[in-house]
Amino acid sequence: MARAIVYTEIGSPDVLHLTEIPDPVAGDGEVVVAIEAAGVNPIDAKIRGGKRPSPPITEPRPVGFDGAGVITELGAGVEGFSVGDRVAIRDAHGTYASAIAISPEHLALLPDSVTAAEGAGIGIPAGTAYQALRSLEVSEGDVLLVHAGSGSVGQAAVQFAVDWGVTVIATASPSRHAQLRELGAIPIAYGDGLQERVEQAAPDGITVALDCAGTDEAIEVSLALVPDRERIATIVRGPDAASFGIRAFSGGSPVPLTDEELAWRAEALPETIALLASGDFVIELGPQLPLAEAARAHELVEAHAASGKIVLIP
Ligand SMILES: NC(=O)c1ccc[n+]([C@@H]2O[C@H](COP(=O)([O-])OP(=O)(O)OC[C@H]3O[C@@H](n4cnc5c(N)ncnc54)[C@H](OP(=O)(O)O)[C@@H]3O)[C@@H](O)[C@H]2O)c1
Repeated sequence: MARAIVYTEIGSPDVLHLTEIPDPVAGDGEVVVAIEAAGVNPIDAKIRGGKRPSPPITEPRPVGFDGAGVITELGAGVEGFSVGDRVAIRDAHGTYASAIAISPEHLALLPDSVTAAEGAGIGIPAGTAYQALRSLEVSEGDVLLVHAGSGSVGQAAVQFAVDWGVTVIATASPSRHAQLRELGAIPIAYGDGLQERVEQAAPDGITVALDCAGTDEAIEVSLALVPDRERIATIVRGPDAASFGIRAFSGGSPVPLTDEELAWRAEALPETIALLASGDFVIELGPQLPLAEAARAHELVEAHAASGKIVLIP
C-alpha cells in the first residue's frame, strides 16, 4: 500500500490525516513516481482552510501540487522518461504521498546535483514568479519592487529579475536582509515608512511592482510609486485587485490565467532546474518534516513561522 495525506472536511490543519491508499498504477500515458519530497505551499493550506473556494468534498481529498522523486513505472505510450529517472513534479494533485500516478507533462528531469527537496520547491514558487515577471514584461533597465521578497515566490522573482539585468528592491523582515542581498536584491523592511525607504533605495523611481505579501501597505506603496498600473500585479489580492486598477495572477482572481501565462508557469520548471544545476539559482530550504506531520507543516506556513521551503518526506 502507498501512503497519502487526505482530508474529508474543510477546516484547521488537524483535518489532515495520513491514510493508506492502493499503490498507484500507471495508466496509458502516465508514469508512477515514488515521491521523495513534497513541497508545501501556502495555497495548500488556503484550500484546506476554505480561504480559497474549492468544489464540495465528495471523497478523501489529496493535498499538494509540487514534489520530486523517482519514476518507478511507465504506462503505455510514454516517451522521454525511463524507470529510475529523478524528476521534479508541478501542478499535480496529491504530492503529499509516498507515490503518485501522473502524466509526464507535469515532470522535468532532475540532475544529480539538484536535491529532491530543491526539486519539490520549484513548481508553484518559481512558476508563479517567472510567469508574473514575463506578464509584466520585466526586462533589463527596469527597477522592480518585490513585496515579500524573502518568501519562496519572492526569492524566485528576485533571482529571475537580477539574472535579466533588473534592479530589484525587495521587502522582508530585517533578519532576512542578508539572504536577499546575497541574491542580488536591495533589501528593505516592510512596515511603517515603507514608501520613504523605497524612495531612498530607488531615487530614480520604481517602474514595476510585484506584490507577494497581500497587505494593504504593499498595494498602497505600489500604487504611490509605479506610474503605470498595468505594471503593478498581486499574486495574493486577486479578489480586489481590479478595484485598485492593478493586475492579478490567480490568488483568488476571477480572471483566469491565459494559455500563454499557463505555458510560462510550465516553462519555469525546466528553466529553474537548469539554473539550479549551473549554480545560478538558490532555493532556500526550511524544515523537512515526515509526511505524517503535514498538519504541523500547515501550521508553520499559516503562522509564517519558518524560513525557507517546507517539505514533507514520505
Ligand atoms: N497567485 C498565485 O498563483 C500564487 C502562487 C504562489 C503563492 N501565492 C501566494 O503568495 C504569497 C506568498 O507565497 P510564498 O510561497 O512566497 O510564501 P512564503 O514562502 O511563506 O513567504 C511569505 C513571506 O511573506 C512575508 N511577509 C509576512 N508578513 C509580511 C508583511 N506584513 N509585509 C510583507 N511581507 C510579509 C514573509 O517575510 P519575512 O519572513 O521576511 O517576514 C515571508 O517571506 C502567499 O499568500 C501565497 O498564497 C500566490
